[in-house]
Amino acid sequence: MASPPDKSKTIKLERYNSYLRRLHSTKILNSSSKLLFRATLLIVLVLILFFTLNYPPLSDNIPNHAHLHHHHNFLSTAFFTSAGGAAWEKQVRHSSTPKRRNGLSVLVTGAAGFVGSHCSLALKKRGDGVLGLDNFNSYYDPTLKRARQKLLLKHEIFIAEGDLNDASLLRKLFDVVPFTHILHLAAQAGVRYAMQNPQSYVSSNIGGFVNLLEVAKAANPQPAIVWASSSSVYGLKHSIYGPWGRPDMAYFFFTKDILQGKPIDVYQTQDDKQVARDFTYIDDVVKGCLGALDTAEKSTGSGGKKKGPAQLRVYNLGNTSPVPVVNLVSILEGLLSRKAKKHVIKMPRNGDVPYTHANVTLAYKDFGYKPSTDLATGLRKFVKWYVNYYGIQTSLKKGSAISGEHPEGSA
Ligand SMILES: NC(=O)c1ccc[n+]([C@@H]2O[C@H](COP(=O)([O-])OP(=O)(O)OC[C@H]3O[C@@H](n4cnc5c(N)ncnc54)[C@H](O)[C@@H]3O)[C@@H](O)[C@H]2O)c1
Ligand SMILES: *[C@@H]1O[C@H](CO)[C@@H](O)[C@H](O)[C@H]1NC(C)=O
Repeated sequence: MASPPDKSKTIKLERYNSYLRRLHSTKILNSSSKLLFRATLLIVLVLILFFTLNYPPLSDNIPNHAHLHHHHNFLSTAFFTSAGGAAWEKQVRHSSTPKRRNGLSVLVTGAAGFVGSHCSLALKKRGDGVLGLDNFNSYYDPTLKRARQKLLLKHEIFIAEGDLNDASLLRKLFDVVPFTHILHLAAQAGVRYAMQNPQSYVSSNIGGFVNLLEVAKAANPQPAIVWASSSSVYGLKHSIYGPWGRPDMAYFFFTKDILQGKPIDVYQTQDDKQVARDFTYIDDVVKGCLGALDTAEKSTGSGGKKKGPAQLRVYNLGNTSPVPVVNLVSILEGLLSRKAKKHVIKMPRNGDVPYTHANVTLAYKDFGYKPSTDLATGLRKFVKWYVNYYGIQTSLKKGSAISGEHPEGSA
């Protein structure tokens, strides 16, 4: 006769099983918590290292730019761009060290801008050290500024991200680098936008500029300073144009609108005259800026050789041959193989001006400034860059007017 199953034994076995299960899960828990602990420790160590290298200096001056958005990429770029860190300093030094003997070491403000990016590349190309500064504001598409930054980085030019009004950042830059020159091109550009946002002009072009001058004054050695004004201060207007140009300028948005079949506004003066502009190609302006840098004397203030006030010279850089805007439109029509929908209207009284003409006599005398690019040649280079950059499939025939140029344009 089979004995009934021993109940107590079954219970014991069950208990034993559950004990084993518990033991097992505790082990798993134990080993996983050990792993967790180690991983946490590792992460903490990495973070400590990260913040030691990149601890940002205390800023005593928070730039007032609430009207323009700034884009920061945490982690992806912070490691290299947050001011004051060892990695940041290394980039700053490397970028600003000249590669040729007696080369300049230039702080280029507005280096992510149109003129600034071209000048930076030209300086680097001839062996000078270049460090950029830019706040990447969104006055126009910041994607374009980032693309210029990428191009500069390819040529080992680093742009420190910050505002002209940030005195501690500027001081830090001058602590790290004995700049010989400043090429000051960071500004709130444009004329019409002043109607909308006059404060941005005061903040960058006056406040930021004075801040830069103050820091440069205190720097040792004192750098020579070259800065761009605008023919607008004469009540005139000439538009610099070329590859990597500014989307807020007529030749740029005319190209866009013509390609999209949108009508374009072509201005006439109040007395029905044609509006003409002294269009200057970017390469000619770059030559002028480099010429001004090369002939700029050191400030003769406290740090200079000579006593007395610093020497100030004013150069006009233009093309000296104003072209009617309607001619610009017909050149574009030819290059794009599209007819523009011209909408001729009277020029609004909004700070815009009917005609311009530069007197380049002094620039020629001092550094041989002589513009050499005519509008058709320059626009061909611009359109070539434009269709490339925006990946536009045009009906442009192979071997047409715009083919055969380097996609980076003049850069
Ligand atoms: N492009 C032209 O046709 C033209 C003609 C005559 C004079 N200029 C002058 O040349 C200079 C540069 O013009 P651009 O066409 O290269 O303009 P841009 O707008 O392309 O470049 C200016 C750059 O400065 C940066 N910036 C602006 N405010 C700043 C601030 N507070 N701190 C740090 N960075 C700041 C902007 O982000 C921008 O990248 C301006 O002074 C402009 O008036 C330009
Ligand atoms: C052009 O500039 C030069 C040098 O500054 C000056 O001597 C000359 O008078 C100017 N010409 C005109 C037409 O204003």
